[in-house]
Amino acid sequence: MEDNIYVSHIPVLLDASLELLQIAPGGSYFDGTFGFGGHSRAIAALGGCVTATDRDPAAVATEGIRLVHSSFAEFLANDVSRYDGMLFDLGVSSMQLDDASRGFSFSKDAPLDMRMDTSREFSAYDIVNGWDEDELARIFYAYGEERYGRQIARRICERRQYTPIATTLELTEFIKGHPKRVFQALRIAVNDELGELERMLKLAPERLKPGGRLAIISFHSLEDRLVKHAFRDDERLKALTKHPVTASEAELKTNPRAASAKLRAATLV
Ligand SMILES: C[S@@+](CC[C@H](N)C(=O)[O-])C[C@H]1O[C@@H](n2cnc3c(N)ncnc32)[C@H](O)[C@@H]1O
Repeated sequence: MEDNIYVSHIPVLLDASLELLQIAPGGSYFDGTFGFGGHSRAIAALGGCVTATDRDPAAVATEGIRLVHSSFAEFLANDVSRYDGMLFDLGVSSMQLDDASRGFSFSKDAPLDMRMDTSREFSAYDIVNGWDEDELARIFYAYGEERYGRQIARRICERRQYTPIATTLELTEFIKGHPKRVFQALRIAVNDELGELERMLKLAPERLKPGGRLAIISFHSLEDRLVKHAFRDDERLKALTKHPVTASEAELKTNPRAASAKLRAATLV
């Protein structure tokens, strides 16, 4: 079963990540977003010692890799180690997207959930049925870049007066045409993804050895902007990538998920 999972999952921008991190045998590395462990296992195969986090309790450790079930920002806030390299492959995994019951996909019916960390209570249901129209419009616009965010928020609030909106397909029913942006916005809000990224960008340089490297793969412009600005403005860091690294034609053929991936790296000065 696990073998099949590993085979079906292809780590995004793997070669470029390994190259930018300059993996060396015996070096210590932190993988904040373990997922299926694709990047972690490749680092370990090159002789690196890997400590990893994933906030999803469904992430299963691989032999030889220390996996902690935690948000990366929470872990780093309490960590005292210094790493030669740190990697973050942000967002959801294909396992989370493909598991209909998790509620991440707008094309599969499921309870409105979208929690990466299923041990927490707060879910997309609480946002859709509890937040007021202004807050909903704000996140649809800010996190989904959805220009009809206000109208969608209004429709949600009208509809839920009668009965709660409980499932993904109930939600998509009245946002036909643009569920993707609304789902992205809800997912980011449920998991406080931008807050996690901002906290990590402050903490990661403290956990790097001098000359150590930080590599971040992001999947939408909101994340990439935060990374780009931190690498430009944080005096502790020097950017190694002027422009983000993106997937080659060859990678795109085998891994469509790589289409929106942007990799940036920096080193501790
Ligand atoms: C894109 S996948 C990583 C895939 C992984 N690089 C691989 O090759 O298998 C992202 C993973 O990071 C986890 N994740 C996202 N944000 C996180 C956070 N703030 N703290 C810890 N884990 C997080 C998700 O649960 C998901 O499993």
